[in-house]
Amino acid sequence: MRQDRRPYWVKKNYLRFRAWYTQHFLKPACDYLGDYPTFMKPWYISISGPNIEIGKCATVIGEPDNRVKIGVWGADEKSGRIKIGDYVLISPGTRISAAHEIIIGDSVMMANGVYITDSDWHDLYDRSSRSNALTPVHIANNVWLGDRCTVLKGVSIGENSVVAACAVVTKDVPANVIVAGNPAVVVKTLDPNIEMKTRADYFAEPEQLEKFFDGVDKMVLQENGFFNWLRALVKPNKSD
Ligand SMILES: CC(C)(COP(=O)(O)OP(=O)(O)OC[C@H]1O[C@@H](n2cnc3c(N)ncnc32)[C@H](O)[C@@H]1OP(=O)(O)O)[C@@H](O)C(=O)NCCC(=O)NCCS
Repeated sequence: MRQDRRPYWVKKNYLRFRAWYTQHFLKPACDYLGDYPTFMKPWYISISGPNIEIGKCATVIGEPDNRVKIGVWGADEKSGRIKIGDYVLISPGTRISAAHEIIIGDSVMMANGVYITDSDWHDLYDRSSRSNALTPVHIANNVWLGDRCTVLKGVSIGENSVVAACAVVTKDVPANVIVAGNPAVVVKTLDPNIEMKTRADYFAEPEQLEKFFDGVDKMVLQENGFFNWLRALVKPNKSD
């Protein structure tokens, strides 16, 4: 479909249902979920295990073929934690798996298929038992994790740094650099004189932003008729 044929009120009710689903099923799975969450297709987002916190204005996008999985699986049922800051973007297919501790800062952006883990999950020599090494992962504010990159156990990534697509990060990354490759190495340094705009800036006034998008929906969808929408669902044509 090239056009959104939904009448405004249908989309509005869809968004209400989506928000209800998030509050009813996903918020209770967190120790804390901040205000203004935008969980798209939240039925394809799984949050499991104890001690999971997600800050305000989180955008998390589930897709049927690319579920988001945020899970803590500690040594016992109360241990392990994941703390995610404010204004983060978590794209489809992202997996965040903590045995001990994964801390993610504000405004961090995760592209499709990012994998973050703080454990190897199995011992090298005893494959029947889990690895108990404490190897936390810390990702600082405003880091951008590119498409399908992997961040492995014990890694810290400094503020503003970028992990290129498909990179595998095995060692600490300083602030304000780009790393790429497998294993990831520094390929570029960010210019500190260029002002950085972050997701925190974008969400500075979340209520206003919501109103703005509602206004856009109203403008774009208000002419859409109910029966034409049904027709487009069952018998779409090229103009749809
Ligand atoms: C990280 C990234 C943004 C950097 O872009 P850039 O600043 O234009 O970087 P450049 O193209 O100048 O690359 C710098 C060097 O790193 C190398 N490089 C860049 N991306 C790489 C990658 N994914 N894997 C391996 N090497 C890579 C380049 O070949 C270049 O090497 P050279 O200096 O030997 O020529 C970009 O490479 C990238 O990975 N983009 C994908 C972003 C993404 O996932 N978006 C999804 C939506 S959130």
